[in-house]
Amino acid sequence: MQAVAIEDPGPNYRLVLRDTARPEPGAGEILIKVAAAGLNHADMLQARGSYPPPPGAPDILGMEVSGTVAALGAGVTSLAAGMRVCALIAGGGYGEYAVAPATSCLAVPDAVDLAAAAAFPEALFTVWTNLFDTARLAPGESVLVHGGSSGIGVNAIQLLSARGHAVFTTAGSDEKARACAALGARRAINYKTEDFVAVVQQETGGRGVNVILDMVGGDYIQRNMAAAAMGGRIVNIAYLNGARAEVNFMPLLTRRLALLGSTLRGRSVAEKAAIADALRKEVWPLVAAGKIRPVVETSLPLRQAQKAHEIMAASGHIGKILLIP
Ligand SMILES: NC(=O)c1ccc[n+]([C@@H]2O[C@H](COP(=O)([O-])OP(=O)(O)OC[C@H]3O[C@@H](n4cnc5c(N)ncnc54)[C@H](OP(=O)(O)O)[C@@H]3O)[C@@H](O)[C@H]2O)c1
Repeated sequence: MQAVAIEDPGPNYRLVLRDTARPEPGAGEILIKVAAAGLNHADMLQARGSYPPPPGAPDILGMEVSGTVAALGAGVTSLAAGMRVCALIAGGGYGEYAVAPATSCLAVPDAVDLAAAAAFPEALFTVWTNLFDTARLAPGESVLVHGGSSGIGVNAIQLLSARGHAVFTTAGSDEKARACAALGARRAINYKTEDFVAVVQQETGGRGVNVILDMVGGDYIQRNMAAAAMGGRIVNIAYLNGARAEVNFMPLLTRRLALLGSTLRGRSVAEKAAIADALRKEVWPLVAAGKIRPVVETSLPLRQAQKAHEIMAASGHIGKILLIP
């Protein structure tokens, strides 16, 4: 099969199409004929050599795909050949075929375009487990999502607003902020022209938000505490602006805040299966009803993986970038 290889991993990496062996599904796994692979920020880090795949994962980039089930590994009874699925995988998405644990697959509803469904897995797994498992988001609570126009952000906004949460979000341009508002954000803040702490405090009558999903870090670590409500939970999924900061932690004490964080990729198959079960029950009805839609900036052929990475690195995109074999 054809798959994307990383030439010269490092700051000047090149992505090239190569012939490689088709992977074989092991016990509990399935082979997917890939309709599309979703790009993730971490793919760029991996190609630069600063984010190695977890032990046992393929060297090929790609942490999420959609497609049809092409073959079943031993013991798989929950899926059948030909089914339309999207899947969270530990690697190997940028190819014509990819292997996924059967338990990390979700059926793609008829109403959803199969290729576009590659926009869902990484974001929905991440958003669900960080907001609901880690930050224990409760009904009626408000949320601030930083990076609202990111692949993560567009899914978070739709999921939260569909479940009735007031969503505040930040984005780096008026165009991105408008897109976030159209997806259901109660207030989208262009952080280049507005102070998100002041806006959140004003919009919540001085109470602040209950939960913050942050990928930015840096000076946001302090400012998030100022935007959080009494008992607020702040969960970091990345530190794009830096993991080091000088912080006054006193608000943690006086307002009973919690600082949390996690990564998804290195978790066990069983842990990911538990998240998939929750998505099937709590989120997939919203996907089937069209309340959470794939938000796709662009779809490019697999041979243009390099260009796709350049689009992501330029950071002008809204939603997901997909690769089509
Ligand atoms: N912990 C986990 O398990 C987990 C899982 C999945 C993803 N993530 C992380 O979540 C983040 C979003 O992932 P994604 O794939 O959705 O990425 P993405 O679509 O590329 O979005 C990243 C967004 O962050 C914003 N941003 C803010 N500060 C930035 C900076 N200093 N450099 C670059 N961008 C900056 C950009 O929009 P603006 O114009 O608004 O600045 C950009 O659109 C990534 O950092 C990723 O590694 C973590």
